[in-house]
Amino acid sequence: MAGLLSNLRNTIIASFLISILVIGGYMHHNHGADQIFWQGVFRFLHVLCGIMWIGLLYYFNFVQIRMMPAIPAELKPGVSKYIAPEALFWFRWAALLTLVMGIILAWNRGYLVSAYTLGALEGFSVPQHIFIGLGMWMATIMCFNVWVFIWPNQKIALGLVEGDADAKAKAGRIAMLVSRTNTLLSIPMLVTMTMNQTLFG
Ligand code: HEM
Repeated sequence: MAGLLSNLRNTIIASFLISILVIGGYMHHNHGADQIFWQGVFRFLHVLCGIMWIGLLYYFNFVQIRMMPAIPAELKPGVSKYIAPEALFWFRWAALLTLVMGIILAWNRGYLVSAYTLGALEGFSVPQHIFIGLGMWMATIMCFNVWVFIWPNQKIALGLVEGDADAKAKAGRIAMLVSRTNTLLSIPMLVTMTMNQTLFG
C-alpha cells in the first residue's frame, strides 16, 4: 500500500479504477448507458477538471502570489523555476479541459446555444438558460484569460522565454492582475454552476 501511495501516477490510476468500479456498478443496475448516464459521466469529468483548475487558481492567489514578497531572494528561484512552471502546466490544461467538458455537458443538457446566447433566442423567457449562460460566459472568459494573458505573460515573468528585467516585471504584473480578475469571476461563476440544477432542475 505504501508503494502505491508513494507514487502519484499509481495512486491516480487506482483512484480511477475505483471510480470505474462504482460507475460499472451503476451500469450493471441500469442495464447500460443512456443519455443521462453520459450526462453523469461528463458532469463528473467537468467537475474533476474544474477542481484542478480553480484549486490551482486559488493556490496562486491565496498562497504563492501573497507569499512571494516574503520569500528571501535566494529561495525565490525554487518557486519560479520549479513550482510555478509545473503548477501552470496543470492549471492551463485543466482550464481547457473544463471548458470542453462544460460545452459537452451543456450540449447533452440541450441548451448549449440558448445558454451561450443568454436566452435571447427564446426571448429571454427561460430563466435557467440566462442563469447558467452567465456562468458559462464568466468561465469561458476565465479560460480565455488563462491562455491569452496569464500563460504568455507568466512565460516571460518566469524566464521561460527571453525578456529583460523591465519586460519581466511588466509581464508579472499583467499575469497577477488577470489572475485576480479570474479569482473575482470565480465565485459568481461557481454560484451559477452549482445552483443551476437545484434551482431549476
Ligand atoms: C469553462 C467553461 C465552463 C462551462 C462551459 C461550464 C458548463 C457547465 C454546465 C453546462 C453545467 C451543468 C449545469 C446544469 O444544468 O446543472 C455545469 C455544472 C457545473 N460546473 Fe461548470 N462550466 C464551466 C466551468 C466550470 C468551472 C471552472 C468549474 C469549477 C469547479 C465548474 C464547476 C461546475 C460544477 C460544480 C457544476 C455542477 C455539477 C452539479 O451539481 O451537477 N464549471 N457547468
